[in-house]
Amino acid sequence: DHTNADTLRTPIVAVLGHVDHGKTSLLDTIRGSAVSEGEAGAITQHIGATDIPLDTISGMAGELIDPTDFDLPGLLFIDTPGHHSFSTLRARGGALADIAVLVVDVNDGFQPQTEEAIDILRRTGTPFVVAANKVDTTPGWNPQEGEPIQRSLEAQSERAEAMLNENLYEIIGQLSDAGFSADLYWRVQDFQKNIGVVPLSALTGEGVPDLLTVLMGLSQRFMKEEMAIDVEGPGEGTVLEVKDERGFGATIDTVVYDGVIRNGDTIVVGGQNEPIVTEIRALLQPRPLEEIRTEKQFEKVAAVGAAAGVKIAAPDLDQAMAGAPVRVVRDRPLEDVIEEVKAELAEIEVETADNGVVVKADTLGSLEAMANALREAEVPILRAEVGDIAPRDIAVAETANQDEHKAILGFNVDLLANAESDLENADVKLFTNDVIYQLIEDYETYVEEKQR
Ligand code: GTP
Ligand code: MG
Repeated sequence: DHTNADTLRTPIVAVLGHVDHGKTSLLDTIRGSAVSEGEAGAITQHIGATDIPLDTISGMAGELIDPTDFDLPGLLFIDTPGHHSFSTLRARGGALADIAVLVVDVNDGFQPQTEEAIDILRRTGTPFVVAANKVDTTPGWNPQEGEPIQRSLEAQSERAEAMLNENLYEIIGQLSDAGFSADLYWRVQDFQKNIGVVPLSALTGEGVPDLLTVLMGLSQRFMKEEMAIDVEGPGEGTVLEVKDERGFGATIDTVVYDGVIRNGDTIVVGGQNEPIVTEIRALLQPRPLEEIRTEKQFEKVAAVGAAAGVKIAAPDLDQAMAGAPVRVVRDRPLEDVIEEVKAELAEIEVETADNGVVVKADTLGSLEAMANALREAEVPILRAEVGDIAPRDIAVAETANQDEHKAILGFNVDLLANAESDLENADVKLFTNDVIYQLIEDYETYVEEKQR
């Protein structure tokens, strides 16, 4: 049912995991090795993402990959910075990412944000592999820079290998407790049934060729259907982040997963109150190979095709929400596109009650995850919104009938400066955390103490 314009797009790979387990380091290593492959021009830095073409990946994977086995163009890694990495980003009711890498520190094993990431992967049915990172910290380790893991294991003492194995089987056990049957990736026959664990080091690069090989294999085998897109079709994407940019006002960093977005296109974007209808003033990309987090200079481009990350500048984007859909209208009736965006947002709508707490979160995905966790904890929600904590939220929380509900639970958000004095003067308790379970536990402890 696809048109002639069908082509295979780049699979979108999200990197998730607990704080400090090495997500950013892993991406830096992949980028770095891509550059040292001598194909600096081949890898392109997008807004919030890095595109690594198949040739470069196969160069890095060396003997492990035969590029003729693949017809996907490469991999687009989303580097959701820091704590954002485990919040869900959605696309058409599923996960934005086609596949995911769950980074786990071999010494630390599962930690709260690992559990949260696992919950999100389970709920969205996203295929994933586990990167058992920091193998180089195993006592007595003999590092084998950039080598496939089997090569590296051959160079280790029996004692070091035994210690590593102990940690790896601990993680495999934790995956099993979480309901996933897993094994070391080279023992996995069917990646649809079993989760592959790839021992690696983001620091020394050993095992990274294996990870790239497994990711290419996974996307090739299970993703090809979804990768077939109409490259000329109206663009579809998801907002990664809403950011103020000097000279442009509010902009949206967007991952485009279908079709093409052109400068001047009319788009519909999910907003705080209503879908936003606006016209693109500029499509912005970082200069080649510049790290986006330090990037100040952008290049204006005429069009961006899936899959890609791009910054969109357009009027009225200040009410846009991270995690919300972006749709190009093109030659369709505007009303239809607005309805589409509304329908997608309605899927995420959180059930609220007449009485309960106020919930704020950084993205729609994390808001949904908060709502699920609160439902399980039987904590009702009066109001749930994406965004930082504003004076209005304090006013709403104060209206709660029960004292225990006069509370705001903020996940990954800040208290706005103009709300600080309101909070001081109000009988409202504020809880903020970037671990959902912790946030809810803190609230529950508070309620228990109140009832005592
Ligand atoms: P957040 O963004 O804060 O969630 O952390 P992250 O998961 O991106 O971790 P990051 O890459 O910043 O790494 C955290 C620390 O672990 C840094 O000091 C890294 O140098 C170190 N690190 C990461 N990978 C490795 C590894 O393979 N080996 C060793 N020895 N250290 C590592
Ligand atoms: Mg990081």
